Amino acid sequence: MKLVFASNNKNKLNEIKLRLPSEIELLSLEDIGCFEEIPETADTIEGNAILKADYVTQKYGYNCFADDTGLEVEVLNGAPGVHSARYAGEAKSAEANMEKLLHELKGQANRNARFKTVIALNLEGSQHLFTGIVNGEITTEKVGSGGFGYDPVFKPEGKNATFAEIPAEEKAERSHRGRAVKQLIDFLFS
Ligand code: IMP
Repeated sequence: MKLVFASNNKNKLNEIKLRLPSEIELLSLEDIGCFEEIPETADTIEGNAILKADYVTQKYGYNCFADDTGLEVEVLNGAPGVHSARYAGEAKSAEANMEKLLHELKGQANRNARFKTVIALNLEGSQHLFTGIVNGEITTEKVGSGGFGYDPVFKPEGKNATFAEIPAEEKAERSHRGRAVKQLIDFLFS
């Protein structure tokens, strides 16, 4: 079965390919010739996942899933949340986003945070949503060189290492996106 993942993020494509059975041929936006920027103008994580999946299905006619992720920090009332990618500005710089977050939390004892991913799947005319959450905390400095985005400052619960320090396979399995993808796979093969 051909299924489009509405993303060109190589890290995410790899994370998801590691988990998908070989019966599913995963296509990226590039693979289907979609080079335009898909609008992400909703004010919730769910809304943005739906916007992206609907854009591809309506314009290109494929079964498709899209994900949207936010990092929600307790003492910041859930910020940066839906604005995670542009937290420090339109440049969407991971470095600048982490610097801003560490600055906002300077001296703060409560560093509880969670990653939340919502996947919207459009399959044969129906839409399905899957949510994956991983709790953890924000470190006081960047640690590790793997992963992407906020990985060097996020330590998942039960682990004494940041997402940037753990192997890609392990992150793919235990992360917020991994948990949402597991639900997607269970749904596709139930
Ligand atoms: P997006 O919705 O996947 O584009 O993600 C929104 C923001 O969260 C971007 O700044 C990403 O870099 C960041 N992000 C998404 N997934 C992860 C992750 O697994 N680890 C760290 N940061 C992430």
